[in-house]
Amino acid sequence: MPLFAQIAEEAPQKFLDGSARIALRTKPSFDQYLFIEKSRARAEKLEKLRSEPDWTSLADSVYVRCGESNELLRRWCDDTDWKDCRAVVFLDPFGMQVEWNTVQTIAKTGAIDTWILFPLGMAVNRMLADDLADIPSPWQDRLTKVFGDDRWRGEFYHETISDPLFGTGKTRMRKGCALEQIGSAYHRRLQSIFPAVARNPAILRNSTRSPLFQFHFAAANAGEGGKIALRIAEHLLKGITEDI
Ligand SMILES: C[S@@+](CC[C@H](N)C(=O)[O-])C[C@H]1O[C@@H](n2cnc3c(N)ncnc32)[C@H](O)[C@@H]1O
Repeated sequence: MPLFAQIAEEAPQKFLDGSARIALRTKPSFDQYLFIEKSRARAEKLEKLRSEPDWTSLADSVYVRCGESNELLRRWCDDTDWKDCRAVVFLDPFGMQVEWNTVQTIAKTGAIDTWILFPLGMAVNRMLADDLADIPSPWQDRLTKVFGDDRWRGEFYHETISDPLFGTGKTRMRKGCALEQIGSAYHRRLQSIFPAVARNPAILRNSTRSPLFQFHFAAANAGEGGKIALRIAEHLLKGITEDI
């Protein structure tokens, strides 16, 4: 089964559905809700949320965009005047869809608190084959898009010589990282672009307890508001945190 089909099958439904509803149920409510979804059928389902009786008063504040989220989010960040505007973004992918460039654009606004599901065990660890040369080139490109550059090669692989004694061996790049290191590498990247990042990202697992996602929070600013947001997020993450 192709990796991404397998991923879709394994994904725990509780993480896949319902976050739009949770946002709509949140009190106090937000001024606007923007849901971005590539699949037309799923976008139509999100549209239908609008008419549910629990939040009819919010119907005019809900915007559903059917399209590619990296592209649409970056455009939304660039087109919004963030001087008097604040937002919370939840990046909720199935797998490797969230590009680093998008996360950077969000961080640059200085106005968006961000929750990110990083597909640590769901996709990244599986894509990192034991031998770097065995990772198909489109997967290598996707890893570079998710991590923002190709430093992941040096972070997760080291050079080994298969037959060092006789000097006839080939040099190979072998995988030398555990899940913790992959997660830390992404966490460090977030810390390099956001003023404050929760120190305790949570691990979300499937029914067989395999780690699927690492759940991160990054605050828009390091001022009083940012500190409060960070404290709340770290408290929430503590409630779902388990070691890898
Ligand atoms: C984990 S689900 C999100 C569920 C959503 N939070 C909810 O409450 O219904 C991931 C969604 O991302 C969509 N998707 C995949 N790639 C995308 C992309 N590049 N841009 C926008 N949506 C995408 C999938 O169709 C899928 O519905």
